[in-house]
Amino acid sequence: MRTVLVTGGLGYIGSHTVVELQQKDYEVVIVDNLSNSNEKVLDSIWKITGVKPHFLKADLSLADQCAKVFELFTEIEGVINFAAFKAVGESCDKPVEYYRNNLNIILNLLEQMIARGIEYFVQSSSCTVYGEPETLPVREDSPIQRATSPYGNTKQMAEDILRFASDTGKVKAMALRYFNPIGAHESALIGELPNGVPNNLMPYITQTAAGIRERLTVFGNDYPTPDGTCIRDFIHVVDLAKAHVVAMDRFFEHGNKAAFEYFNIGTGRGYSVLEVIRSFEKTTGVKLNYVFGPKRHGDIIRIWADTALASEELKWKAEKSLDQMTSSAWKWQLHLKG
Ligand code: NAD
Ligand code: WQD
Repeated sequence: MRTVLVTGGLGYIGSHTVVELQQKDYEVVIVDNLSNSNEKVLDSIWKITGVKPHFLKADLSLADQCAKVFELFTEIEGVINFAAFKAVGESCDKPVEYYRNNLNIILNLLEQMIARGIEYFVQSSSCTVYGEPETLPVREDSPIQRATSPYGNTKQMAEDILRFASDTGKVKAMALRYFNPIGAHESALIGELPNGVPNNLMPYITQTAAGIRERLTVFGNDYPTPDGTCIRDFIHVVDLAKAHVVAMDRFFEHGNKAAFEYFNIGTGRGYSVLEVIRSFEKTTGVKLNYVFGPKRHGDIIRIWADTALASEELKWKAEKSLDQMTSSAWKWQLHLKG
């Protein structure tokens, strides 16, 4: 059995990935400082998979706490790094905290890995590195645009750090550039746990439908898109989680073609904000209270992924439909309500 360290493994994408890893017989060590998650998620993972992962509460941005993880779990052979602060708006108010947390985590992990001969590193990257793309679908070799937030910049810098670290020959790294993950595990035992008022579309929709928010404001309806609202490549979080298992398999089976690789992880298809709302209403039978409001500053108009490289190299493809995304998100919201 291979042992993988999953940092931020109690968070939204991390918890779904732990489930998929365990179901493929990986042994998982989760490290999380619970800054944006809850220890109860461990029990939910246990319920779904029948296996309780190892868990250590630690702040990986602190070198001594990170070292402790590797001292305790000497069997770790690879790392999947989800741990990060992720709120774009907050990162503009707290740039120092974002750079310190998101980058120190990577530096501390790399330091330990290099010292101990642990080679494999999978990093959560983001389509945010592309900014507003000039051509669509966006390919991995499309230009990286100047970041518009400290958060986005930490994702770009993380890729640079990993590229140079892998140039030494001591580590092999893969950056997975996620598009817009939404939805939840079919068991409705794990899902997204937004802190306070959600910034993202899907949790705002489900909280509005659940009566927690009065109404959803759709930010802008006169964009140059077919229905005037922005377009994103929404991907089911379980599909996204599976991509991480495939990434780890690629390393362990020596299938990686370069010391540093990066892949788009999306569906290859864009849906507008209104299409997401319509899918939600159709699959749940709930009428959503929404209004059109002004554009949100800094929003990308439209983006979706070219998935050819992931499909060719990773033999991975997203399988779940938009309706499965919106219905599973609602099931999770209902579970949260109790
Ligand atoms: P999340 O906040 O649910 O999960 C991140 C986890 O990391 C949390 O459980 C948090 O407690 C933990 N964490 C943060 N700082 C830590 C530290 N110093 N030490 C230990 N644990 C720490 O976020 P998510 O949506 O699951 O995102 C996971 C990763 O994917 C992040 O790196 C994020 O930037 C990236 N990403 C997310 C999206 C998205 O839309 N959700 C899109 C692209 C990329
Ligand atoms: C999607 C669409 C909004 C809320 C963010 C990060 C990005 C990446 C993914 C991590 C947009 C519209 C939203 C609302 C709305 N994360 N919307 N009303 O902006 O694509 O990306 O998450 O790397 O870095 O910036 O996702 O869910 O916020 O918005 O109309 O209340 O929904 O304007 O068009 P986004 P989102």
